[in-house]
Amino acid sequence: MAFFRRYCRNRNYVTGPGRVYEFFIRGHNAGESLMCGIIGYANADARNIAVPLLEGLSRLEYRGYDSAGIAVSGTDLTVYKHSGELEMLIERVPESGPSGAVGIGHTRWSTHGPPTDENAHPHTDCTDRVAVVHNGIIENARGLRRALEANGHTFDSQTDTEVIPHLIEAELDRSTAPETAFRNAVSQLEGSYAVGALIEGEAAIYATRHRSPLVLGLGDEWYYLASDVPAFLEYTNRVIYLEDGQVATIRPNALTVTNEDGSPTQPLAETVDWDTNAAKKGGYPHYMLKEIYDQPTAIEWCLRGRVGTPTDSVAIRSMEPLDRPEQIHFVSCGSSHHASLYGAQLLRERGIPAYAFLASEYDPGSIPIDDGTLVVAVTQSGETADTLYALSGAMEAGATTVAVTNVVGSTAARKADHTMYIRAGPEVGVAATKTFASQLVALSMFSSTLTDSWTPSLKQALCDLPGQIQQILDKSTMESIATDFLGSDAFFFIGRSYNAPVALEGALKTKEITYEHAEGFAAGELKHGPLSLVTDETPVIALWTAGADPAAMRTNIREVAARGAPVVVVTDSPGSAPEVADRIDVVPKTHPWTSPVLVNTSLQLFAYRIASALGRPIDKPRNLAKSVTVR
Ligand code: M6R
Repeated sequence: MAFFRRYCRNRNYVTGPGRVYEFFIRGHNAGESLMCGIIGYANADARNIAVPLLEGLSRLEYRGYDSAGIAVSGTDLTVYKHSGELEMLIERVPESGPSGAVGIGHTRWSTHGPPTDENAHPHTDCTDRVAVVHNGIIENARGLRRALEANGHTFDSQTDTEVIPHLIEAELDRSTAPETAFRNAVSQLEGSYAVGALIEGEAAIYATRHRSPLVLGLGDEWYYLASDVPAFLEYTNRVIYLEDGQVATIRPNALTVTNEDGSPTQPLAETVDWDTNAAKKGGYPHYMLKEIYDQPTAIEWCLRGRVGTPTDSVAIRSMEPLDRPEQIHFVSCGSSHHASLYGAQLLRERGIPAYAFLASEYDPGSIPIDDGTLVVAVTQSGETADTLYALSGAMEAGATTVAVTNVVGSTAARKADHTMYIRAGPEVGVAATKTFASQLVALSMFSSTLTDSWTPSLKQALCDLPGQIQQILDKSTMESIATDFLGSDAFFFIGRSYNAPVALEGALKTKEITYEHAEGFAAGELKHGPLSLVTDETPVIALWTAGADPAAMRTNIREVAARGAPVVVVTDSPGSAPEVADRIDVVPKTHPWTSPVLVNTSLQLFAYRIASALGRPIDKPRNLAKSVTVR
């Protein structure tokens, strides 16, 4: 990225907001068709439009980083694309930049065809008059391709996306006007897509979406188009979220949006209240570490206006119309599933039958669902395909639905009957950190409100959390403990009750970013199989805080110590920690419901330190994506 910084610094380009570019590079992870990042920019005064496009892509790399490309429409249509990370593309774009007032770009995470130059976006038609970037999967691509090939079109890539420029080309060949050609082409697509297109000779970006996110950033006489707000948040926080089927025609000085049937519409511009600094690396070596350190603020945001002082009433506006359901199903994946396990437990204890399902395994056809069932989709991105699919199934089966999400205007937020935002701010690192912490906090508020069971002690504990997390961040011993166990064969995490989901989360975080073997267990399960893996080369991180059955947990810790495993106890009561502990990491005392948030902070530091010592690409773990929009 040094070149990128130099490239931009040397140029002093004035961009849309009328100020000199300041470059900050965000590392992150992943995206092709479905998990990809789209950027578009329209500005008649842009001196080198490649600059905002490349900068936007650098902020979207978390959606995809195995190839990237840009296209610019000026006198000609110019396309640059390259396999590999963004630096490779930057090397390929000439320093003078292509001239033009509108451009599109893409960063890809492969789903159709390997990450080659040919499969990188933008894709073009036979005559290079049309350039297209796309997120999503075109389910009928094979049929469309066969029909186009039968009509003489030739294809360069293995992607599903390439049918789109050819469909537009076919329309243009029939002398269809450009916007109509775009509309007619996308009307033939089945599947999920966010699409941006340029047509030679037209100073316009044509864009649409269907089940894949696309947002417009509004400036004075300039516009951004992107898959996600952080791509342009530095320059504007005024946004329009496109609805499924809407078509936007974005010109340097004019924006029109039309509905699927072509009728004009004036979508509401919204203001995103994210702090732009929250989307930057802020001096930390990795986004993940920054986001771990963001947690005190993230939790303050989550609580703000909902829980003030312990005696304040709690307001969760989106929940006001909810009746107490007969049963609750959580649907979610990965870290969000771990948060859901915690949420379900709280609700069961408050008398509501509640179950956490892996969204990918949720089958409404095999589970009784009626209008007394509340289905809660927990998803930080609001775009996870498995979770959205489960949510759709639940809606069709007649359930009332709630999305618990971080992203305003995300698909889950728009789809569900009710939404509770976790307000963690943008999370760029692939590993969920502050969003997981905020999910725990949000779900504790959710369950207390739904069951009308708030207590002053829980309110106090929630209010104390930001300060207590800060204490851990300031004084944790976990990082030095982690260094002592580098080179171990595997890491096991065990916990009971509210700490069982945190044990799973600690292991997920460790394996995800360190590439080391790690497993998490409800501690009582060890003796039913996993104990055979335990040796003196497998440290066991045991969670020992209020809320779990101490006698049973003590037994489980002794079981692993007896097999020679080094034992690290994370505890709020060092005085009562089992005597077999080799190392003790102390977290502040709190309410049993809030304890998992503190314990988890320690586990995040443990995973981060090991990954850092091993030199792993922490913000971009191999094979992973931030937004998993494939099933
Ligand atoms: O955006 P979501 O919360 O729906 O994402 C779900 C999982 O993909 C996500 O939590 C994943 O497990 C994280 N990378 C874990 O750190």
